[in-house]
Amino acid sequence: MAAYVEFKNVKKIYKMGETQINALNGVDFEINKGEFCVIVGASGAGKTTILNILGGMDTLTSGSAVLDGTDISKMTKRQLTAYRRYDVGFVFQFYNLVQNLTALENVELAAQICRDPLNAADVLKQVGLSERMKNFPAQLSGG
Ligand SMILES: Nc1ncnc2c1ncn2[C@@H]1O[C@H](COP(=O)(O)OP(=O)(O)OP(=O)(O)O)[C@@H](O)[C@H]1O
Ligand SMILES: [Mg+2]
Repeated sequence: MAAYVEFKNVKKIYKMGETQINALNGVDFEINKGEFCVIVGASGAGKTTILNILGGMDTLTSGSAVLDGTDISKMTKRQLTAYRRYDVGFVFQFYNLVQNLTALENVELAAQICRDPLNAADVLKQVGLSERMKNFPAQLSGG
């Protein structure tokens, strides 16, 4: 069976004026469906760059990134928008919550662009935040 996620010889070069930064220099890995995977490496090793490519938020310079049989490196901007919206979930290091909306409103906002969204209040209850639905992000703990 083919791997669910497959990076093949992925290179990412950031250009900053005259200088080029080789953020990824030929990355190969596979993740099988259902596998729990952790990416570990020194600061600057390219972890965020890999996740940004896999999350459809950045593009690669060469190589291929295949998810469930589709090469996301060949997607158009429009296809990547649909991919981010429907196919991939992403928790940012700095959350990207809307600061002046409550916890409930933040989840409701995301639910508006989902297909078949779950009930926002029910989901917050399931993760133990039933008492915190009316709190703003600044009033919640990070985790
Ligand atoms: N937008 C960018 N423009 C230029 N260089 C970048 C950009 N983003 C990342 N880099 C460079 O690419 C390399 C990989 O960065 P990346 O952020 O992927 O590392 P990381 O493994 O996530 O590091 P950390 O553990 O510190 O989060 C680094 O040399 C970084 O300086
Ligand atoms: Mg990082």
